[in-house]
Amino acid sequence: MTDANTDVFHIMSTCRSMRRLKPDPVPEELIYQILDAGIHAPSGGGVQAWRFVVVTDPEIKMQIAEVYRRGWRIAERQYLEAGAELDGNMRAAAYLAEHLHEAPVHMFACLRARKIHQQRLAGPNAVNFARIMGGSIYPAVQNMLLACRALGLGATLTSVTCQYEAEIRTILSLPDFLSTYALLPIGYPVGKFGPVTRTPVEQVTWFNQYGTPFPKPGTSE
Ligand SMILES: Cc1cc2nc3c(=O)[nH]c(=O)nc-3n(C[C@H](O)[C@H](O)[C@H](O)COP(=O)(O)O)c2cc1C
Repeated sequence: MTDANTDVFHIMSTCRSMRRLKPDPVPEELIYQILDAGIHAPSGGGVQAWRFVVVTDPEIKMQIAEVYRRGWRIAERQYLEAGAELDGNMRAAAYLAEHLHEAPVHMFACLRARKIHQQRLAGPNAVNFARIMGGSIYPAVQNMLLACRALGLGATLTSVTCQYEAEIRTILSLPDFLSTYALLPIGYPVGKFGPVTRTPVEQVTWFNQYGTPFPKPGTSE
């Protein structure tokens, strides 16, 4: 029998964005454990260019939250103007924006761009290369989200502050060679973990060539 808190499939299927967080502090040992899960992820060339900034200082969290709130309000207006629904997800996201400063931990996942990265990012394949850059940090971020879930901590991958990087750079005293890729607000959740809702595999997968459905095992005639 597997323990629900260590079964990776159970953890993945219940790793929802948890945006309503209690202000109670998170023990440093747990923050370290989350970071340790992050650095076990793969990265392009095994370069491990990830760098993290853990923020618990109330004054600094308040400054981050102000940038986030402003960015969220603009994004929310754009989503609604584009016809998005004000559903549960949007409401939870709005709640997070208004309460971000209360989250006990703000965890920034950053990537150190080296000279060769900067040259490629300025070159003709910049867009494709940007994907590889993201691919060298988001596996670590996902490991951290799963670790939070396994430890009973709520978290959300957020990206609003990436669009206001100059301000975040100043607030965190980040050097030029670091770019921010995600901000994870982490804390004990107010609500319960529940199953994530996703479009099933067979609706998003093709077999051998685009257009040929990939059947769910046991359903073909
Ligand atoms: C690249 C990326 C950026 C995201 N940015 C934000 C964000 O800025 N704010 C937010 O509240 N949620 C953000 N999310 C969380 C998604 O909205 C969320 O994962 C998705 O709606 C599915 O919901 P669930 O995680 O509860 O299953 C982001 C997720 C990803 C993968």
